[in-house]
Formats: sequence, structure tokens, C-alpha cells
Amino acid sequence: MYQRHENLEQFIRVARTLFQSATLPEAGRQLAVKVFEHLEQPSDDGKRNSLRYPACDLLDSALAPLLDDTTSCGDAARAIKLLAPAIGWQRRTSGTNGSEDYVEKHVNGMICGPGGTESRYDIQLGFSLLAPHTRYPDHRHPPEEAYVLLSAGEFRQRDSDWFDLGIGGGLHNPRNSLHAMRSGSTPLLALWCLLV
Ligand SMILES: [Fe+2]
Repeated sequence: MYQRHENLEQFIRVARTLFQSATLPEAGRQLAVKVFEHLEQPSDDGKRNSLRYPACDLLDSALAPLLDDTTSCGDAARAIKLLAPAIGWQRRTSGTNGSEDYVEKHVNGMICGPGGTESRYDIQLGFSLLAPHTRYPDHRHPPEEAYVLLSAGEFRQRDSDWFDLGIGGGLHNPRNSLHAMRSGSTPLLALWCLLV
């Protein structure tokens, strides 16, 4: 029978705290409550996306500024570092207005979700990692989504101006609503969760 590793338990505990932060809109916190209720039940079909991509090499430098941080963001960075060898990697290749080389300059790390550390299909919990000066494409998807930012970086919803959430800040993307993110001079690292 599948048993969840303590490193993953620790990450889920920390992420649960982060996604209940007052910096998240109420709708984002409500979504996260449902996601983490699902996660009380471990489930894994063992299908890990083990292929690595160039942007995976940015993970250490994205985590480094937080490793000595005593807040939940620091806890999250330390937990991700421990999990790194077991993360399932994937890239987005669809959407519009992404920077020219965004495919090479980003990667999505699946922790709980299809092909992830705990491969399952009811929820997704993971992160996006963007190299400096990278714009992720405008995209939309049927499930609503909550984000918590763990670095500098900017977001855009529908046709809004770009805005910076600040480290530990959160966002909620309603179902099928257009959104995007972009990095400045440092890597962008943002946790997300969805109920599928
Ligand atoms: Fe999204």
C-alpha cells in the first residue's frame, strides 16, 4: 500500500498554512480548504514525470533567498528543497503572448497531481518556476486556481495591469479566466493549487 513520505507530509502541512494566509482572497482560501481536504487521503499511481528540463536548474537559486527565512515561506522553500528529487516536471507549450523563449525558460513542478511526487487526478498542488525576464503565456483552464508567490514576480488577470503580490501574497483565478505571470531580474517561484 502507498505510504506518503514524511518530506511530502511536511510540504503539504506548510502549503496548507500558506494557502490559508490572509493575503489570499477569500475565494482562494476556500478553494484551498477543499484541495487540502482531498489531500488528507494519500493516493499515488506511481506515474512520475521523471524527465528534467533546463529550467529545473533554477530551482536552487529560486529557493536560496528563503532558506534562512523563519516564516512559512521559508518552511515551504526548505520543504521543496527536500522534495526536489521526487518532483514531476512538465512544461506549458500552449497559450498566447508568452516571451519568445518561454518554453525553455520555465518549468512546472508537480508535487501532488498527475505525474507528480504523489501522482493523482483529483487535485493539483505544485509550482511554476520562471527564469529571469520570462513571460508565461496568457492561458485559461476550467478549474479555478489559487496561487501563493514565493519570490518577486508579477501577475495579470484578464486585461488588468501587471501587479506584484509580494512574497507570500496570494491570488485566485476564477474558472476559465485568462491569466499570466512574468519574472523580473530574478527567478519567479509560485505555488498553485487546483481542484480538478
Ligand atoms: Fe493557470
